[in-house]
Amino acid sequence: MQEDRSRWNEKYVNKEKYSAEPAKIVKKFCTLAPKGRVIDIAAGTGKNALFLAKQGFMVEAVDISDVALGRLSGHHPNLHPICADLDTFDIPRERYSLILNIRFLNRRLFPYIQEALVPGGILIFETYLEGDGEDYCRSACRDYLLRNNELLHAFLSLRILFYQETKNHDQKDFCHIASLVAMKD
Ligand SMILES: C[S@@+](CC[C@H](N)C(=O)[O-])C[C@H]1O[C@@H](n2cnc3c(N)ncnc32)[C@H](O)[C@@H]1O
Repeated sequence: MQEDRSRWNEKYVNKEKYSAEPAKIVKKFCTLAPKGRVIDIAAGTGKNALFLAKQGFMVEAVDISDVALGRLSGHHPNLHPICADLDTFDIPRERYSLILNIRFLNRRLFPYIQEALVPGGILIFETYLEGDGEDYCRSACRDYLLRNNELLHAFLSLRILFYQETKNHDQKDFCHIASLVAMKD
């Protein structure tokens, strides 16, 4: 939606520094995936996408912010930025050996994510949980926060390889995070 694009573009324009360090969960588990195509859902400025492109994956980095994607275009021949709204974007079926969904939540995509994996393909999903106490996540809109065990239940049709819910120190504050790694049989 146009509103999301403007809001995120504004954030990215005003942000001076971008971490180039891929998420720990991506570094740790990407080796489980057979080499092939990756979709990075809501890729942002592409730190995870670029890391995977360098590992030899063919990466499609989807995000609504053309400003964010602009920072990664031309960085690697294996990296293909796609500027699209994930509220309406159709993820192709049986195409990806690895799917990343990091720090983003759109529940509409859950069934498409499962269908988009090839057999043996890996899903790495990590995002914010509704917390307790006076932490930062609590003030975020509930629509963008997972409930306890929600991620685990959403992907039970896949083989769960790793799941945890933790309290992390994220940016300035404490945040509750759910992390899942799963394989399609
Ligand atoms: C918190 S950032 C996470 C970026 C990246 N995954 C990471 O871990 O660094 C969330 C991203 O979701 C994107 N986004 C928000 N709403 C979107 C939508 N409707 N369609 C596509 N991307 C969207 C934003 O532009 C932003 O880059």
